[in-house]
Order: sequence, then structure tokens, then C-alpha cells
Amino acid sequence: MAARIEGEVRVTAADFMDSVAEARLRVSAARYKVEDEVRGTATKLKTRVSRAAGEARTKLGDEARFIKSWIDDPLRTGSVTPSSPFLARRMASYVDPASPGPVIEIGPGTGPVTEALIARGIDESRLILVEYSPEFCALLRERFPRATIVEGDAYALSTTLAGHLTEKASAIVSSLPLFTRPPAQRSALVKDAFSLAVDGAPFIQFTYSVISPVPRKGAGLKSQVSDWVLRNIPPARVWVYRRAG
Ligand SMILES: C[S@@+](CC[C@H](N)C(=O)[O-])C[C@H]1O[C@@H](n2cnc3c(N)ncnc32)[C@H](O)[C@@H]1O
Repeated sequence: MAARIEGEVRVTAADFMDSVAEARLRVSAARYKVEDEVRGTATKLKTRVSRAAGEARTKLGDEARFIKSWIDDPLRTGSVTPSSPFLARRMASYVDPASPGPVIEIGPGTGPVTEALIARGIDESRLILVEYSPEFCALLRERFPRATIVEGDAYALSTTLAGHLTEKASAIVSSLPLFTRPPAQRSALVKDAFSLAVDGAPFIQFTYSVISPVPRKGAGLKSQVSDWVLRNIPPARVWVYRRAG
């Protein structure tokens, strides 16, 4: 009887120890799980914060680059700040990504419109960027390694692009400060650009002005204009020109 009771007590104690060990294991497992979750959340937060900091640094860097370029040559830079993503997206919205061939961008600067074109679905390798500033060209080469970056004058587009175009372009996207040039030179630029593009290709141009930056009278152009993009400094509109007929 005593032995049976002793035996029963021993088994109960062993069960109890097993239960304690199992409970400890469960507590440890729960602790590891919580620690893992905390670590995961912390890593995600750290990544987000450093990405946001990187983007802020890039943006500030681009603003500074622009101001420097504007101080060096205000007429050529044409603006003290890069275009906002809203204006850039509006410009890109007039390019049909399904229409084949290269897309020529003139005056890409630090590349906000270039980014919007890529986000629109135009493969980077289709982009031909013509930029006058050597500093901006170096930056564009870093940022868009698969695009063709041509350092040169967009007002002599055919000559500047000689040897770079293997087929006609599907669109021309321009951020040039056109009003710093006389009307005849602006018209000549657009005519030259159209000679490098397929029929029906758009010439897309933004402006802060209330009037068309490309002279339209007797130019044989069809045109349309967007509403004002207010989320840009200063607000701007986008003109789209096509050859008529
Ligand atoms: C108003 S900024 C626009 C930059 C950028 N696309 C944006 O929207 O922020 C004009 C750009 O055109 C470039 N540019 C001015 N005249 C040029 C020319 N004749 N040929 C090529 N690029 C030119 C300037 O260096 C500058 O980067």
C-alpha cells in the first residue's frame, strides 16, 4: 500500500516536472516569437526611415544642384527648382508606352520627367536624353545607366543625335526653357524634332506661361493644352503639339 502510494507520488512528481519543463519551453518559444516580431518590425522601420532619409537627401541634393545650375546660367536652366512629380507625371501621361521606338527627352536636368516616363512603362533603354549641362549628364548616367545620355545642344537636335537614333522616335518630351529663344528658333526646334519622329508623334512641352511656347500660327501644328498643374512651383501647363495632316 505504502509502495503504491510512493509510486503514485513519484509519477505525479515526474508529470509535474514534465509540465514545468513544457511550460518553460512554451514561454521560451513565445518569447522568441515576440522577440522575432519586434526585431522584424524594427528592421522594417529602420529600412523605411533610411529610405525616406535617402529620398529626402536626394531631393535636397537635386534642389541644390538646380539652384547652382541656375546661378551659373539662369537662362539655360530656366527654373530654380526641378519639376514636381505631379508635373512630371502629367508630361509622361501624354506618351503612349505601347507606341514603339525611342522616346527623346530634351532638357532632362536631374531627371524627374525621366523617372515619370519610366514609371509610365517606357523601358529605360528606349530613352534618349539630350542635356546641355555636363554635371546633369554625369548624374543622369548614374541614375539611368540603361538610357542613352547625349551631352549637347537640343537646338541642333539632328546634329546632336547623329549616330544615336536607329529608328524614328515615338515621342519628344521637352522641358527646355523655350521663351529664352526667339519664336523662329523655337519653331525650328520643333520642326527638327518632328523630322526625327514617326507621323503622329507628340512634342510635349511644359510652360509656366499663359500662352503657347511654340508659335502656332501657320506652323501646320495641331495642339492641345492641359489644365494648370498647381502642385508645382510655379504652377505649369503642358502643351502637346502634333504635325497636322
Ligand atoms: C527647366 S530645366 C528642366 C529640367 C527637368 N526636366 C525638370 O523638369 O526638372 C531645363 C533643362 O534644360 C537644359 N537645357 C537648356 N538648354 C538646353 C539645350 N540647348 N540643350 C539641351 N539641354 C538644355 C538645362 O540644362 C536644364 O537641365
